[in-house]
Amino acid sequence: MRILLITCALLLPLFAQQPGESKKKGPPGPPKNLKILKPDTNIRKVMTEFRLSLGVQCTGCHVQGDFASDENKHKDVARKMITMTEEINAKFGDGKVHVTCFTCHRGEEHPAKDVPMPPPPAPGAPKP
Ligand code: HEC
Ligand code: HEC
Repeated sequence: MRILLITCALLLPLFAQQPGESKKKGPPGPPKNLKILKPDTNIRKVMTEFRLSLGVQCTGCHVQGDFASDENKHKDVARKMITMTEEINAKFGDGKVHVTCFTCHRGEEHPAKDVPMPPPPAPGAPKP
């Protein structure tokens, strides 16, 4: 059931694709090295979301010119992150997507962990 829901969630963006969008540079050919994403994933859309969510270029996770390669170590981290995000969403138990890469990353490769604390009061300052 969970697999089905995840498949549906990944399938949905397929219908949001603009007609002719994928034909700009000729057909890129089917993905050769997907270990987590389903084969029918709209790769272009998902990858653009990754790029914008983390504020990196495609080469943040890929070797230039070879998207199927696993040489860039950030690609495997991203795979773990995809699984983690799916697990978090599954815990909501309603089949909806609540948490995305952007929820944590907000355009940053390394999301902030520590709460920004206000500076300590200057010596002699009146107590708030
Ligand atoms: C945050 C990391 C990340 C970023 C940024 C990213 N990708 Fe990916 N990409 C991945 C991961 C992880 C996979 C493999 C997913 C899997 O194993 O199911 C992948 C797979 C792919 C594939 C399939 C390759 C194959 O043959 O198996 C293509 C094509 C691709 N990405 C293109 C892009 C493009 C174009 C961009 C920039 C717009 C981009 N990616 C940005 C992480 C990223
Ligand atoms: C629950 C919060 C959360 C979500 C959701 C999340 N991430 Fe992350 N991600 C983090 C944190 C925190 C780190 C930094 C870990 C560290 O500093 O050791 C990180 C690190 C990464 C890194 C490694 C950066 C590096 O320097 O190696 C990549 C790549 C990444 N995330 C991709 C993704 C992608 C792609 C998604 C969506 C599928 C995603 N993350 C969703 C919290 C999240």
